[in-house]
Amino acid sequence: MIPFVDGWDFVQTLGEGAYAEVRLALNRETKEMVAVKIIDLKKAKRDGTTENIRKEVCVMKMLRDERIVQFYGSRTEGDVQYLFLEYAEGGELFDRIEPDVGMESEKARKFFCQLVSGVEYLHMKGVTHRDLKPENLLLDSKDNLKISDFGLATVFRYKGQERKLNKCCGTVPYVAPEVFSGMEYRAQPADLWSCGIILIAMLAGELPWDSPSGECKEYEDYCTKKSLHLSPWTKIDTKSLSLIRKILNENPSHRYTVSQIKEHRWFTKSGVVSSGMTPQHSPHDVYSSSFKRHTSSLTPENPANKMLTSSSGVVPASQPEPRRRPFMQDLLSLPLGHKGLGGASGDEAGVVSFSQPATTEFVFLSSQLSQTQSSRHLDTFQRFTKRMTRLTTRLDVGETELTLRPMLESLGRTSNPFPLQFFCTTKDRRQALLTFQIVLIKLGPEKTVVDFRRSKGDGLELKRVFRRIKESFLKKKLLSDK
Ligand code: ADE
Repeated sequence: MIPFVDGWDFVQTLGEGAYAEVRLALNRETKEMVAVKIIDLKKAKRDGTTENIRKEVCVMKMLRDERIVQFYGSRTEGDVQYLFLEYAEGGELFDRIEPDVGMESEKARKFFCQLVSGVEYLHMKGVTHRDLKPENLLLDSKDNLKISDFGLATVFRYKGQERKLNKCCGTVPYVAPEVFSGMEYRAQPADLWSCGIILIAMLAGELPWDSPSGECKEYEDYCTKKSLHLSPWTKIDTKSLSLIRKILNENPSHRYTVSQIKEHRWFTKSGVVSSGMTPQHSPHDVYSSSFKRHTSSLTPENPANKMLTSSSGVVPASQPEPRRRPFMQDLLSLPLGHKGLGGASGDEAGVVSFSQPATTEFVFLSSQLSQTQSSRHLDTFQRFTKRMTRLTTRLDVGETELTLRPMLESLGRTSNPFPLQFFCTTKDRRQALLTFQIVLIKLGPEKTVVDFRRSKGDGLELKRVFRRIKESFLKKKLLSDK
């Protein structure tokens, strides 16, 4: 547990990005949980992404819907900006996708319907997400989907006037061909294309192509209908496939719209509308703002992780504030407990930099707590997320490390810069770069958790690597059965 604001602790890292990480803050007394996105503004400035952050806050303030992760507020302290967000305790949709398999089609249908409902709401507000993918779709405690991460979102319609976009942005396998082409494009069809790719991922556990361009054979074969007898298409039933083909129409003006998708027989099949589908497009409440904004110009961000740069768009200068929860008040106004902030260094008031491993609390858990303490915390921690890329060995941490190292080294470049932590870079099946991090968590003298986190590359490929490593542990009879 790492003290944050008085009465609140950081209990877990939920996600990491190039210049931000998301942590779970827990109120000691009320047990309320809030996701806190911690943005390193120095790094963002260096990468030229401060405009994106300003926009993210601006866009999030416009949104209030059950299909969107709720924004509670933000504060800036020195070079760190904190965004307070609704905590989605079911984790990422991505973690529900079994590589090469997908998920039960009824579940996929429920998630897809909720996704379309969320996207419909965004578009109604004039906002486009521009990076829809399973990693950015979170689930609440009842497995209802919430769209998250508005770092690349922009306003495409303002006061009824739609503007075309021109910047190539998003994550390549999910991006529409017209976005990839570099021409001007309309926002709505581009977001819906990504929804079609997400549906394939949910139904088949794989992505149909690396990029929607002439250079990619799988995409070319799809366009010329040469590949429909191959995977992933053969794994998808006819009704779903009929809808997917209409969404993945290369011509954006012929592509299915939200209304057409909602009328398709796969979508309207009974049972779907009852599963949390009804959008509540309620007008949001207006409250006064105490938040700080950052104004600096946008420059291209690092494209190394398959992310393309964002366009600067027209964002209304003043937006109404969402309703602020009473418990948010202390997070927004009480002093921060900097010295205890894991992963942070620097003790000058308000200055926090990120030079330590992002998963310090895992190391902290395993090295500084007694076994019972660490098990108890891990139980809490396991309730929080249901990751599919975690295994438990029947070895102590040292033996787990020794067993794991050669497995990782056989995959590619591996480093072990901190105790209980590995970084590995390898090439996936399509020769694309895949970088991931592994953290070992001591549960007992003969029990260690091995947690895999993707840093760069295709998340489904990480799951394939994970599956291979898990099978090796299983063959050696080194997996814990509890
Ligand atoms: N990961 C990133 N943002 C999150 C959130 N709001 N809730 C849960 N996990 C997250």
